[in-house]
Formats: sequence, C-alpha cells, structure tokens
Amino acid sequence: MEGLAESFLESTFLGLWLFGWDKLPKRLHLTAIWAVSLGSALSAAFILAANSWMQHPVGYQMVNGKPQLNDIWALFTNPVFVWGYAKVLFASLVTGAVVMLAVSAWQLRHRGDREVFTRSARLALVVLVPAILFTMLVGDELGVIEARYQPMKIAAAEAQWTTCQPCSFSLFQIGGGNNDHTPTQIIEIPHLLSLLATNHWNGQVVGMTPLQQQYTSQFGSGYYVPNVFIQYWAMRVMAYLGVPVLLISVWGLWLLRRKKLATSRVFLHVAVWGAVLPFLMNTAGWFLTESGRQPWIVQGIMLTKNGISPTVSTTTLWISLVAFAALYGTLATVDLLLMLRYSRDQLPPPRTEADVDAPVPAVQY
Ligand code: HEM
Repeated sequence: MEGLAESFLESTFLGLWLFGWDKLPKRLHLTAIWAVSLGSALSAAFILAANSWMQHPVGYQMVNGKPQLNDIWALFTNPVFVWGYAKVLFASLVTGAVVMLAVSAWQLRHRGDREVFTRSARLALVVLVPAILFTMLVGDELGVIEARYQPMKIAAAEAQWTTCQPCSFSLFQIGGGNNDHTPTQIIEIPHLLSLLATNHWNGQVVGMTPLQQQYTSQFGSGYYVPNVFIQYWAMRVMAYLGVPVLLISVWGLWLLRRKKLATSRVFLHVAVWGAVLPFLMNTAGWFLTESGRQPWIVQGIMLTKNGISPTVSTTTLWISLVAFAALYGTLATVDLLLMLRYSRDQLPPPRTEADVDAPVPAVQY
C-alpha cells in the first residue's frame, strides 16, 4: 500500500513541481508540492502503522503459529499508532520550522534580504511554538500509552528497577543501568514520573525486576530488559532538547514583535546552530522506540533472536550492513552539502514589470 500509494504520488508530483516551473499554471504548480507533502504524510502513516503493530500487535489471529492480519481497521486505530503518528507529524513540523528559521537567520546575518527572510522567519516561528508544544504534549500521552502496552520500555527509560507509587522523575543520574541497579548520584522530582507515566499524582509504575519475573513466567526463561543506558538517555536527549527549541522560538517571536529580529546578531547566531537540535531529538526518539522494544521484534509474539534468517551467514550480514551504511552515509553527506550550498544562495533579483511575461527562472540544479 505504501509503495503503490505514496511513492507514485510523491515521485510523480515532485517531478511535476521540479520540471513544471513556468510551464504549469501557478496554482497547479503549488498543488503539485502539496501533493508531495500529502504523499510523505501518507507514507509516514503506513510505516508507523506497521511499526506500531510491532510495538503493540492488534487486529490479528494466530494461524499455524504465525500471526495473520484479520482486522485492518484495528491496525489504524491502534492507540500506539494514533499517538505515534501524531507525534511524528508534529516532530516533522518542528524539524521543518527549525531548519527554515536557521536558513532565514543565516541569510539575515549574511546578505540581509530583510523583507523576504524576516517573513520566512516569522512563518517558521509561528509554526514552531505550537508544533513543539504539541510534540511535548503528545509525547507525554505516548508515554502513558506505552506504560500500558510496553511497561518494560518506559520502566527502562526511567531506570526504574523496583515498582514505585508515587514515583519520582529522575532528572539526572549516574549508574542505575543493567549492571548496577542503584544509581550513585541522582537528582529527582517527586511525583513527576507518576504524572508523566500515568497522568495521576500518585500513579504506580511497575519496575523492571517484577516485569522480568512476570515475562519469565509468561514467555519462558530469557532476559527481557532492554539497554537501560540507551533508554534513559534517549528519553532525556529527546525531551530536554525540546526546551531550548521552545525558548528559541519564544525569544524569536518576542524579537519579531519588537522588530528587532533581523538585527539581533546573538539570536540569529543561536537560530542557525539550532538547526542541529531536531535531528538529535528525532534520532533519540527512534532509539527510545526501537531499542525499547528489545528483546522483541514483535512485542510478546517474536523475539529478535528468532528473526535471524538461518540461511544468511554472518559475513553476508556484515557486508550488507557495511554497504548500506556506506551508501546512506554518502547520500546523507551529499544531501547536507547540497542543502548548505543552496540555502546560502542569493535570491534572484525581484521581478520587475518588464519580467512579467518572461519565464520564471526554474530552480537551477
Ligand atoms: C516532553 C517531551 C517529550 C516526551 C515526553 C516524549 C515522549 C516520547 C515517547 C514515550 C516516545 C516512544 C514512543 C514509542 O515507543 O512508541 C517518543 C518517541 C519519539 N519522540 Fe518524543 N517525546 C518528547 C519530545 C520529543 C521532541 C521534542 C521530539 C522531536 C522534535 C520527539 C521526537 C520523537 C520521535 C521521532 C519518536 C519516535 C517515533 C514514535 O515512536 O512515535 N519527541 N517520544
């Protein structure tokens, strides 16, 4: 479904948008890029529906020991999907707005096409404030949903080995991981974890040790605790970096109101470097989601170790892993260099009356 629907939608309309400059009527040309973004949102929906099924399997029956989908509607009403999809859409709005703000800030710092880039900075900031607030709110609700369906994931993200009620939120700690359950240093806020994980002041969070015992009796002997260090710090990198993004956006709106944004060198400098933050937050978010599902490939149904194909040798695995890493690494580097180069380009001079019938200069690649 994802391939058929969104790939055709995205690639067809991206082609129309790229090569339709001064050929398509303006409105139709604009519709083309909207169709591309609709395609990406659809693709995210299909990917998240499949991923959320692995986190919390629904709408299936076991046939000859294999899960068989028997209710596609359950797939798209899976609470992990509904909140996870909302989360990813808001997180992508945050990413787009922060990058747009960074490009505008760089241009304002270097060539000062003030009218155009103040307008783009304003658009980025107006989207960024609600987008980051909703990402955090939806993130909190996703935490409550996952505490219900993947309690081990959330207990690991909080390095919570024993069951607690009420529960303090660990703001920072040293140790307390898989090999030493007791942290040497910890700064904590009373009741906050109960609120974040259960929406209740005195809510209970089941610890990893009792969950390990429960899963052993339910699924047989095995170690069911994910990597606590990754879970703990992935949650904190993702959530804590949301705070400077929120502060930068409020600061920007305040400067805009006072018509000082284009001249505030400190803000423009900070806004340029802020472009790094969403990439760190999103990557940390996916570490939290995927590492937190281990040792399961499908929660409660199939362990990752049983997903290894018996016919593929370790050497072949390594070769394909290195090949993919090299390919995606090269593509990411080229992509970054192209984005840096074109985001620093000067805008073409504004069109004069004489240019009205002249063809619109297409994006020069
Ligand atoms: C207070 C702030 C936040 C909280 C409480 C929070 C909570 C969570 C939780 C619980 C998950 C795991 C979901 C799962 O395993 O299904 C998650 C995943 C994720 N988070 Fe956050 N988050 C916060 C802020 C952010 C921010 C600011 C961003 C990026 C702009 C972000 C991006 C992501 C991404 C990309 C994922 C993986 C996708 C997914 O599982 O839905 N989060 N977050």
